[in-house]
Amino acid sequence: MKNSMSRRQFILAAGALAGSAVLAGCGGSSTSSSSTSTSTDSSSSSASASDDSYTLVKDGTLTVVAELGFAPFEYMNDQTGDPEGFDVDVINAVAEKMGLQCEYLPNQKFDTLVPLIKQGGKADVSIAAITITDVREESVDFSEPYLDSNQAIVAIKGSTETEATLNDASKQVVCQGGTTGNDWITENLPNATCVPVDDVTAALTGVQTGLYNAMVVDLPVAKYMLTNSFSDLDIIEEIATGEQYGIAISKDNPNLTKAVNKALEDMKSDGTMDSIETKWFGSTI
Ligand code: ARG
Repeated sequence: MKNSMSRRQFILAAGALAGSAVLAGCGGSSTSSSSTSTSTDSSSSSASASDDSYTLVKDGTLTVVAELGFAPFEYMNDQTGDPEGFDVDVINAVAEKMGLQCEYLPNQKFDTLVPLIKQGGKADVSIAAITITDVREESVDFSEPYLDSNQAIVAIKGSTETEATLNDASKQVVCQGGTTGNDWITENLPNATCVPVDDVTAALTGVQTGLYNAMVVDLPVAKYMLTNSFSDLDIIEEIATGEQYGIAISKDNPNLTKAVNKALEDMKSDGTMDSIETKWFGSTI
């Protein structure tokens, strides 16, 4: 079921905040003078395109790709089969401000997102709690940061593990592959056995069953998952990495980054961002 589900394209239904406006936005009013369709005709001498023009994989649509197992940022609603979460509300509101409809591609592994945006042609943006890093900035552009974050070490309740005890070859420390949590383990627990996996829920289940001694994952995700699904796990340490999330966009599409930044700026000043933060975190962050 998961497979057939993942093949669907998810046209986002109205979310509490952005939904009705998104529907209005996809009603065809071509307010987005800056949108041009992707063209392979490089010989075209249409230098008449305005300076702020950007390309879209699909006309009138902001095509989004993400790894959808990272609650509360992006996850599949089992009932509706649609993606939901903080990032989903953010990108819907961004699309609405741009006069575009928002469409999600099927779930992708986290470590394929930046390469997929770099390669181009499939998705316009990736929003997936992606930390802006120097290494990733070599491949893609990022929007201005839209949220601050940190890491957490998660272990079974009552565990006596610490950063020091985990730094031992006998200790299995799990993470989602290709994440900044993965980098943190490699750099700070060089003696531990680092186990990168694709799925955060599977990783936490492995900590629960004793397969792994600990997990390193983004702090807001640890807090949310432990409160909602893994009450027998604990955050044994918060790691102040000072990360910032950004929306990844192709370097070939700089005006799309500009338009997304403008939308984010508007959302910050008109209170949209605050209401999305309050909806998912109970307060502004
Ligand atoms: N913030 C971390 C990173 O950028 C983890 C992001 C994982 N996101 C996801 N949707 N699985 O590496």
